[in-house]
Amino acid sequence: MARILGIESSCDETAAAVIEDGSNILSSVISSQIATHSRYGGVVPELASREHLRAIVPVVRLALEQAQTELSALSAIAVTQGPGLVGSLLVGITYAKALCMARGIPLISVNHIEGHIHAVASQNTIDYPALALVVSGGHTHLYEVREGFKYRLLGKTRDDAAGEAFDKVAKLLGFGYPGGPVIDVLAPHGNPEAVRFTLAKMKGNTLDFSFSGLKTAVLRWYEARDMTAEITARRELLASQHRPTLEEWLSVTPAATLDLLASFQRTVIEELLRRAVRAADDIAARSLIIAGGVACNSGLRAAAEASHLPYAVFFPAVGLSTDNAAMIAAAAFPKLARGEFADSTLKADASLTIG
Ligand code: KG4
Ligand code: ZN
Repeated sequence: MARILGIESSCDETAAAVIEDGSNILSSVISSQIATHSRYGGVVPELASREHLRAIVPVVRLALEQAQTELSALSAIAVTQGPGLVGSLLVGITYAKALCMARGIPLISVNHIEGHIHAVASQNTIDYPALALVVSGGHTHLYEVREGFKYRLLGKTRDDAAGEAFDKVAKLLGFGYPGGPVIDVLAPHGNPEAVRFTLAKMKGNTLDFSFSGLKTAVLRWYEARDMTAEITARRELLASQHRPTLEEWLSVTPAATLDLLASFQRTVIEELLRRAVRAADDIAARSLIIAGGVACNSGLRAAAEASHLPYAVFFPAVGLSTDNAAMIAAAAFPKLARGEFADSTLKADASLTIG
């Protein structure tokens, strides 16, 4: 029985988890900083590091306690090396190193994107080769995943990540941060055909993504209208109520704006799925893995299902889509088996890549 403690602090979640044998989640603790960042409409790096510093010790302690695991019972401690915010990554890495050194526990470094893939791979029986679409606030990447977790990057965003596009549109229209969950619940109340957006045409690698054109189109739509009253109403709602209900959002969002949100979300989903399906065909994929925060999106899940693809499509379980440490511990398991350890020279790498 190998138990790994995972530590994740790459962005705005401080998380720790204990996993047994690569898939059995004994505990998964996530301390979110959303309340700190939401009023700024995005993550403020300086505040993020400070919050991680505050949270790291209690979060790790709680994860061990809930898993009824002593440090001495751990086979390794896994930590996110990157990509992410360097000041945030440093908090997790420094703490993981200190625990490993003090207790003589092996250290394993994990790539955050690989973690998102393992959030799905560790909980399902995947046939390889698989195509992985990793869609979050920081990434929109397509990877070929072969047996033994060998990766090849097939395409990525040239500008914004898909989650970032959700967040920026939400911020522009006064829906706060993060934007994905709000747009997700409001989109079904609008007409997805109402606003026609042009799909991105990519020169060079046609498996790359671009969301800047879509973002600009939303900005033009916004500039052509006077939205002051509804945006003010939404900001007031957010200020009075940290997490407004669907009914409250609907009461401050006219039909035209709901149509915009529905059309925007439909376009993002179309951009994501058409490239993922093409890439999957290119590599004769036997499974499709969709991971990362945007994989929570119900429209994306429904569209993937409605496509009746000739291979199985896997999404993360609840709690494993957005940032968490269970996925970091899961990704470390094959590395433990291969004896791939890090040492005290491990450094944060804000733009770490895989494949
Ligand atoms: O994976 P994650 O927690 O952090 C990164 O690694 O970036 O993803 C966060 C992103 C945010 O941009 C958020 O708006 C988006 O995931 N997100 C969603 C949904 N839930 C979270 N996007 C669309 N629909 C959702 N339901
Ligand atoms: Zn992430």
